[in-house]
Amino acid sequence: MAEQDKKIVVSGIRSTGNLHLGNYLGALSKFVRMQDDYDCRYFIADLHALTTHPDPKQMQENVKSILAEYLAAGLDPEKNTIFVQSDVPEVSEMYLLLNMHAGIGELMRTASFKDKARKALGIATEGDDIEKEIIGNNTNRSVNAGLLTYPVLMAVDILIQRANLVPVGKDQEQHLELTRRFARRFNSFYGVDYFSEPVNFNFGANAVKVPGLDGSGKMGKSEGNCIYLIDDEKTLRKKVMRAVTDEGPKEPNQTPSQPVENLFTLMELVSEPDVVAHYRNAYADCSIRYGDLKKQLAEDILKMTLPIRERILDIRGNDQYLSKVVAQGAEKAREYASATLRDVREIMGIKKL
Ligand code: TRP
Repeated sequence: MAEQDKKIVVSGIRSTGNLHLGNYLGALSKFVRMQDDYDCRYFIADLHALTTHPDPKQMQENVKSILAEYLAAGLDPEKNTIFVQSDVPEVSEMYLLLNMHAGIGELMRTASFKDKARKALGIATEGDDIEKEIIGNNTNRSVNAGLLTYPVLMAVDILIQRANLVPVGKDQEQHLELTRRFARRFNSFYGVDYFSEPVNFNFGANAVKVPGLDGSGKMGKSEGNCIYLIDDEKTLRKKVMRAVTDEGPKEPNQTPSQPVENLFTLMELVSEPDVVAHYRNAYADCSIRYGDLKKQLAEDILKMTLPIRERILDIRGNDQYLSKVVAQGAEKAREYASATLRDVREIMGIKKL
């Protein structure tokens, strides 16, 4: 397909730590599968990471880690535009412009904002009046305006590249919905047909949900239940062997408890079907030993992650290569972004005297 006929794909990951197996199976491996058929622009969302005030000394290291992990997972800088968000100043300018069309109310009603604000303010329940708490809060730091306008910045990441497809997980669906709303609002406010509405991109019907090791929900950085791509063999085995289970099936053909089902789900993601069937059957006839299941699971995860880990370490040490990749990516990303920004300024009536 000719380059200009390809659909434009945009996605990013916040630089707030190393990538885990959930990021890999849920996002990164999809990014890799899209790189031949689409015009993909993948970036590292370091400005978004600022909402939670990372240590300035850590910022650059975090960006480097994600970049090395992107490349180690198989993203090819010759096929994709790989860049760092803050290397594209056009994003920040358009963020200011789009903020003029975002309502405080709709931003305050966004689930991710309510969640983070509630946590920051120590409000436990769904029903509590967080608006009052926020307005009356005197420390003023815990819920910053960047947190509120997070979806505007994300919309800009997407719209400034004129993206058609945005591969993201379910937790980002609401942000994508806001992006579409901002696009429509911009078009109708200025009477133009400028932005098209980007849609989520899913492979097949079901998005993969990667469970964590602590018996509860999905794998997530903050949950302390994850397997990182960078984990070494020993660490990884230890984590898997310590995963939460239960006392074992009491009678044949029981439905597994959540923690055990999580391990089966992980196994389905990394192991051969006959291996999964073997352990499912062993569970069904009560002969299962969780120790064996975990050993096998660790083995199969390692098969997937160890080669990636080696490439990460290799790439991570090559500063020159990393700088070259992001410089090349920034140049392309800015070319697209500056064209959009020029149009947007023009449409909004910002013109040179
Ligand atoms: N908000 C996304 C997340 O936390 C990261 C992100 C920022 C993003 N800008 C984006 C994802 C643009 C897709 C497109 O996962």
